[in-house]
Amino acid sequence: MSNQIKKVTIIGAGFTGRQIAARTALYDYNVCLYDIKEEVLEDVQEFLKKFFRPKSKRDKRKNVYLENNISKAMEDVDLVIEAIPEDVELKQKIFSEIDKLAPEHTIIGTNSSSYPVSKIESAVKRKDKVLNIHFYPPIPLRPMVDIMKGTQTSDKTFEKGKKWIQSIECTPLVVKKEIMGFVFNRIWRAVKREAIHMWANGNADVETIDTAWKIFTGMNMGPFELMDGIGLDVAYNVEMSYYKESKDPKDKPPDKFTEKIEKGELGLKTGKGFYKWKSF
Ligand SMILES: NC(=O)c1ccc[n+]([C@@H]2O[C@H](COP(=O)([O-])OP(=O)(O)OC[C@H]3O[C@@H](n4cnc5c(N)ncnc54)[C@H](O)[C@@H]3O)[C@@H](O)[C@H]2O)c1
Repeated sequence: MSNQIKKVTIIGAGFTGRQIAARTALYDYNVCLYDIKEEVLEDVQEFLKKFFRPKSKRDKRKNVYLENNISKAMEDVDLVIEAIPEDVELKQKIFSEIDKLAPEHTIIGTNSSSYPVSKIESAVKRKDKVLNIHFYPPIPLRPMVDIMKGTQTSDKTFEKGKKWIQSIECTPLVVKKEIMGFVFNRIWRAVKREAIHMWANGNADVETIDTAWKIFTGMNMGPFELMDGIGLDVAYNVEMSYYKESKDPKDKPPDKFTEKIEKGELGLKTGKGFYKWKSF
């Protein structure tokens, strides 16, 4: 296996894929950003222009190129990170395609927020070279990345992945034993679940819970403000995926929360969630 990672291809140029590509380009890797949609690649130009505008970053723009031909995207690649929508069948399909086209030594990572790579690895022959490599956008504000093995991932692949994460000045969050939610999302999810249940049971108001969180942690936003920003539909889907996994009634989102989703109170993007928002 070649020991050096030189070329990195990101599959999916959406919200997270483009951020991973830009971050990687800053550290002098040869970065290919691939998407199936031509319009996404057009849109990404604007993002890259803004990202590399500061003088300190300007000459790094040349490290990233856009591609809509997957065979070309796989040429001489050392590390592939998949960042396509959160659908396990779609991810298996793209993993299988990558496996057929990429050089033998190439590591394939998934940025999935919820699927362990063990649920995707059946699609590839190189089961020793797959990883979960999960980012927390916005990456400049949250430079940490979960890294987790599949059932047959080799130590060599894991070490190589870890070193690559460090090389782009992110902290690797090592998952020692497979768990849904990896390291930080799992902790964050426990906070959200407790907060939502306390609100739904009438134990405390959202303002009180957010205030307590802000005073204690020194953060400028509480769990409800953060959930409103992310989107309550997203938070709901995450809660449901944990519930489906555990089948524990305590994990089921309370009816009061479900009603909010049904009413279209999705947070910042609809002007109302746990709070009312003026600009959206
Ligand atoms: N949004 C977040 O905050 C966040 C955070 C961490 C991880 N993730 C994970 O990252 C992944 C992507 O999420 P996102 O929010 O960036 O999604 P997104 O919808 O913004 O982007 C997905 C992109 O993939 C492209 N795509 C779809 N099918 C493709 C294919 N077969 N080949 C190439 N490109 C394809 C789409 O055109 C789109 O541009 C998901 O697995 C998600 O769980 C998201």
